[in-house]
Amino acid sequence: MHAVVTGATSGIGEAIATALARSATVTLVGRDDGRLRAAAARIEKAVPGADLVLERADLALCKEVRHLAERLELPDVVVSNAAVITDLDDRTDEGQQRLLAVNHLAPYLLLRLLAERLGESGSTARFVIVGADPVALGWVPVDLDDLESQRLRFEDPDLTPFAAYGRTKNMNAMFGYELARRLKGITVNAVHPGIIGGTGLGRNARGALKKLGEELAKTAPGPEVGADTAVWLATASEVDGRTGGFYVNRHKVETAEHTTDRQRCERLWRESAQLVGISER
Ligand SMILES: NC(=O)c1ccc[n+]([C@@H]2O[C@H](COP(=O)([O-])OP(=O)(O)OC[C@H]3O[C@@H](n4cnc5c(N)ncnc54)[C@H](OP(=O)(O)O)[C@@H]3O)[C@@H](O)[C@H]2O)c1
Repeated sequence: MHAVVTGATSGIGEAIATALARSATVTLVGRDDGRLRAAAARIEKAVPGADLVLERADLALCKEVRHLAERLELPDVVVSNAAVITDLDDRTDEGQQRLLAVNHLAPYLLLRLLAERLGESGSTARFVIVGADPVALGWVPVDLDDLESQRLRFEDPDLTPFAAYGRTKNMNAMFGYELARRLKGITVNAVHPGIIGGTGLGRNARGALKKLGEELAKTAPGPEVGADTAVWLATASEVDGRTGGFYVNRHKVETAEHTTDRQRCERLWRESAQLVGISER
């Protein structure tokens, strides 16, 4: 089995890659060679003899996502896990908002391009998209007229990037549902890993949010726990053929209506296609 894990250089992604490395060749995708090598060394220590491939790609850049999709050896499993929380005005050299690019446009482009390549082989690959808490995200519906959340403003400005991040995680669910509807053979499921400590996600948090993150991290379980449902979706025989679900603690759950509405999901699909320069079909 060949599994690809994005954002495998820390936190939950590294834990997912470690678990998968016990039974598969794992391609670790990360944006920095040094961090990729360091993660590989930690995984090899945990899983002696692990068969790892290192792929450097900055997922904030569509150009790099395209190249990655072209050169990857065809996978049986793809876990789309990389994400960031950045300021809304943080832009990439391609002019995209970094938050939207890494968290939504990258998985959208990568999984669509891989599905195209895999489709020709009658693949039954599994795509797993790491989303976030569907209950909390019920409060931050995606504004389809404002995908960059530029109109989103809170009294406490430190909260704005976090809420905008939440919207991109709702996009993960919407994209997962729409991709599952469009694919035959390949299955697509999304997962909330839980509130997990010991990861780098909150590194840019400020003010009250930073304090809250630090408090939560004191009692939150670690990345291995956060990896469990994603690894289960990627490998368990009981998940064979199941597609279009959203899972928490290995249980299928409902997500907010604004994430399941077919018209909204289709519109997000089309708008995203335009942003990354790919066919709308
Ligand atoms: N932790 C939680 O409580 C929690 C809760 C709900 C959902 N999640 C989700 O779980 C997933 C993993 O988060 P985490 O908590 O494990 O955070 P993390 O430790 O910060 O991991 C994020 C990973 O994404 C990578 N990444 C970021 N930008 C990238 C880019 N431009 N190109 C390539 N890779 C990039 C990071 O690479 P670097 O090492 O280079 O930074 C890192 O490996 C995310 O999808 C997050 O939304 C986490």
